[in-house]
Amino acid sequence: MTGARVLVAGGGGIGGACALAYAAAGASVAVVDREQSVLDAVAVAFDEAGVACELLRADLTEHGAGARVVADAVERLGGLDVLLHAVGINDRRPILAFTEDEWDHILRVNLSTLFGLAQAAGRHMVEQRSGRILALSSVSGLLAHHSHGPYAASKGGINQLLRVMAREWADAGVTVNALAPGYIETPLTAGELAKPGKRESLEGLVPAGRLGTPEEVTGPALFLSSRHAGFITGHVMYIDGGRTLV
Ligand SMILES: NC(=O)c1ccc[n+]([C@@H]2O[C@H](COP(=O)([O-])OP(=O)(O)OC[C@H]3O[C@@H](n4cnc5c(N)ncnc54)[C@H](O)[C@@H]3O)[C@@H](O)[C@H]2O)c1
Repeated sequence: MTGARVLVAGGGGIGGACALAYAAAGASVAVVDREQSVLDAVAVAFDEAGVACELLRADLTEHGAGARVVADAVERLGGLDVLLHAVGINDRRPILAFTEDEWDHILRVNLSTLFGLAQAAGRHMVEQRSGRILALSSVSGLLAHHSHGPYAASKGGINQLLRVMAREWADAGVTVNALAPGYIETPLTAGELAKPGKRESLEGLVPAGRLGTPEEVTGPALFLSSRHAGFITGHVMYIDGGRTLV
């Protein structure tokens, strides 16, 4: 990854860990997030690791934000070789409980922000005839988890969007893939895991018998972003301790 210019969207548990791993592997990294507190935590982690990072603050649901952020990252990094989309929210309620506005919001955060960013990054990468785009999908894009309606739909949408992008941009040397984790311990899942008995019941669903860590997503992210993965495109890679086997 030495010399690669990487934009990570979403600097939370998984995005933050991947950003640090890219930098440790020699990449120049920019991180964009809506929350200043998240960017502050990324800055501390990068400082502690002795590596540099460009921090961009934006609400990616705003119209045109994807194009603006990609342009900013290209300017600050001197180009763009990798986009990792790790933006996501969840709202665990049954489908009958959602309003249309709530549905729209989850789809906008999880799926439309990928469209905006990946379209702008893809435009740049197709022009330079190389690039890697990675999106965080989920096992929820495949399995029918109860109380995950909008989230699951957004992840299924990511899986299909990336396949079309992968097909359209393959002849320009741009690969598009997804990482689909099972339960990983991050701020996104902290509230759920704090509920009595929840951790044990979730662990019981995983053949590996445990939940994953953000660091366990970084290796697949680095691999799929590297020159070693130049002929892999349109894939959804499950990182789930076997969760989707059962
Ligand atoms: N943690 C898990 O168990 C798990 C499992 C499967 C998939 N995922 C996916 O991985 C990705 C990262 O999840 P995470 O666990 O690191 O969550 P996280 O909450 O730690 O990080 C998500 C980040 O997205 C940012 N964000 C949300 N809305 C935004 C917006 N409008 N504009 C800019 N930034 C915004 C948040 O501020 C947050 O920092 C998500 O797509 C999530 O669905 C997570």
